[in-house]
Amino acid sequence: MTTIFITGGAGFIASAFVRLLLAEQPDVRIVNYDALTYAGNLENLTGVDEVRHVFVKGDICDRTSVTSAVPENCEAIFNFAAESHVDRSILSADEFLRTNVIGTQVLLDAARAKGVRRFVQISTDEVMGSLPDNSGLFFSEDSPLRPNSPYAASKAAAEFVVRAARETHGVDAVITRCGNNYGPRQFPEKLIPLMIANAMNDQPLPVYGDGRNVRDWIHVDDHCRAIWLAYEKGAPGEAYNIGARNERENIDVVRSILNALGKPESLIKYVEDRLGHDRRYAIDPSKAETELGWTPRITWEAGLASTIDWYRENQTWVEHIRSGDYRAYYDRMYGARLNASGSNPA
Ligand code: NAD
Ligand code: DAU
Repeated sequence: MTTIFITGGAGFIASAFVRLLLAEQPDVRIVNYDALTYAGNLENLTGVDEVRHVFVKGDICDRTSVTSAVPENCEAIFNFAAESHVDRSILSADEFLRTNVIGTQVLLDAARAKGVRRFVQISTDEVMGSLPDNSGLFFSEDSPLRPNSPYAASKAAAEFVVRAARETHGVDAVITRCGNNYGPRQFPEKLIPLMIANAMNDQPLPVYGDGRNVRDWIHVDDHCRAIWLAYEKGAPGEAYNIGARNERENIDVVRSILNALGKPESLIKYVEDRLGHDRRYAIDPSKAETELGWTPRITWEAGLASTIDWYRENQTWVEHIRSGDYRAYYDRMYGARLNASGSNPA
């Protein structure tokens, strides 16, 4: 058996990664380490095999706890744990720097102390900043790191911490940089699940600015397959951009959701823009395709339809979140914005 250590495995992407590996990699055993912040949800692991998967509650910034949780003969650490929401980083950046930067350093130190063979850092296209509209430009692995939000800055800093561990201590590390994920079990603070949940409840859909910011969407399972291939085939010290060549304007995504749910476009409310709102993300995934042999399998149309179905069929999962601390967050983030909204810039 190959034992791996995954952080953040009660969150959206890493819980999908756990499911994927348990289904497709019979020789893998997983230690899943997560602090269970507001975004960590043990319901995301319901039904997961308890023989090849062990859950440990802990903070990646807690050196003692991390060092004792990383198992002997650990083959790889996959660092997914992070504060991941841009809007929250605008309200307060402290937790982002703590978890995303200090936590990554603690994990790298544990990797060295425990003789872990490979470190996989789950990064994001946001470290490369924003591309101009209709420019025909794409993010490549050679694009400079120009983060614009506190979240993106903390993820860029984490990449530098990984680089330094490699250059200074010879840690074998690879980095993946993916675009916007969607799929089941995504916390409903992010665009797609927020819009699905609001539409299902006939509540307003708050679209920032003119709604024409572009994101490059990918199904979470396609992202997870790319991460595994980066671990298996990636060259030490390399970064791999992961994207499905699927650029969409936010307003088109929102309209597709309303259409699929049979809800009226009158639910759309244009609200005050996000501060420092990146205009466009677009990834050139050629390197991952050529060097890792990766290609996405799930089309946007099929992936969005199955995601909407999942939220329709799992309304209790959504309601458990919406009935907790989320309510206060939502009021703080959207209360004044929605009260002041109404104009349509189009
Ligand atoms: P998420 O917010 O859904 O989950 C984050 C998980 O990390 C939660 O389970 C949380 O409890 C855990 N966590 C947070 N702080 C921790 C700490 N100090 N110690 C231990 N665990 C902690 O995030 P996600 O959307 O699944 O993103 C996972 C990773 O993928 C992040 O590193 C993010 O930057 C990266 N990423 C996300 C996207 C996306 O579209 N969501 C795209 C590219 C990269
Ligand atoms: O690109 C990868 C990144 O994608 C990840 O690194 C981040 O962890 C992830 O959160 C995501 O960041 P974004 O800021 O792009 O995702 P978000 O879902 O927050 O917003 C997507 C777009 O939708 C963005 O242009 C802002 C807009 N938006 C978002 C929300 C929550 C709205 O118009 N209204 C909203 O209520």
